[in-house]
Formats: sequence, structure tokens, C-alpha cells
Amino acid sequence: MINRIAISFLAIVLAAGAYAADLTDAQRAAIEERIKPAGESCIEGDNTCGAPAVAAAPAGPRTGEEVYNSACMACHSTGAAGAPKVGDAAAWADRIAKGTDVLYVSGLEGVAGTGMMAKGGCVNCSDEEVHAAIDYMVVNSQ
Ligand code: HEC
Repeated sequence: MINRIAISFLAIVLAAGAYAADLTDAQRAAIEERIKPAGESCIEGDNTCGAPAVAAAPAGPRTGEEVYNSACMACHSTGAAGAPKVGDAAAWADRIAKGTDVLYVSGLEGVAGTGMMAKGGCVNCSDEEVHAAIDYMVVNSQ
């Protein structure tokens, strides 16, 4: 009696096994989808796992005025080192006449032989931020 139960149980297991082996790839994928874990644990900083780790939110580009106030004002509001003062239209007229693109190049690369260093010395300024600062200076010096 016990043997017969064991055998029929074995038969059922074998049948189930055979049935499972007959699954199509789509069915297999559907089952795997159903039984997959509800979540996964990620180690902080492991970008290969789950959603990308949250990086310190970039503040976004600073405005021209912000960049000017933090990086350019020291020279360009006082005329230190011979810098053309913002607001001094006469000092800017010839520079503005060169065109914005030329001023952008001076802003990014500096003016050789003068106190105007590359990016006005603002090493953490993006090109975009230096351009914005120049726009701000130009608009306020016409
Ligand atoms: C250490 C002083 C100093 C700082 C800081 C400084 N500048 Fe200047 N800048 C100068 C001087 C001096 C000149 C004049 C150079 C010359 O003789 O043409 C100048 C000229 C310029 C010009 C005109 C260049 C041209 O082709 O006529 C631009 C544009 C300019 N600066 C942008 C900036 C910006 C933008 C910043 C801040 C990110 C900045 N500067 C910070 C000293 C400085």
C-alpha cells in the first residue's frame, strides 16, 4: 500500500517534471516574471544595481550675475589690474565692437600678458557659465 502511494506520487512528480520541461520560452519567462523577488537589495553607490545611485544633485548652471559676483567682480568692478570696469561704457565700447564670440574666447582662454586669466581664474566655472558672465558684463556696460 505504502509502496503504491509512493509510486503514484513518483509518477505525479515525473509527470509534473515532464510538463514543466514542455514549457515554451514565453511561458518560462512569464513564470520567472511571476516568481521573481519583489525587490532587490543594493549596496549604496553600486550603480550596476537597481536604479542609479542618487548623486549629489547638480545645482545647474549659475546665472551670469552669480558667476560675475563670485568670480569676476574683484577685478571688473574695481578696474584692478587694468580690467575694464563693468558699467564703464567707454572702456567696453571697443571690446564689445569685437563681437561676443571674440569676448567669449578671451573669457575662456584669458588675455595673454594681462591679469585676465583663463575663465577669469574660475576653475569650477563651465564654459557656459563664463559665457553667461560675459553676457552679463556686456549688457551692463553699454
Ligand atoms: C584678476 C583680475 C581679473 C579677474 C578675476 C577677471 N578678469 Fe576679465 N579681465 C581682466 C583684465 C586685466 C582684462 C583686460 C585685458 C586686456 O588688456 O585686454 C580683462 C578683460 C576681460 C574681458 C575682455 C576681453 C577682450 O577681449 O577685450 C572679458 C570678456 C573678461 N575679462 C571676462 C571676465 C570674466 C567672465 C571673468 C570672471 C569669470 C573675469 N573676466 C575675471 C582681469 C580679470
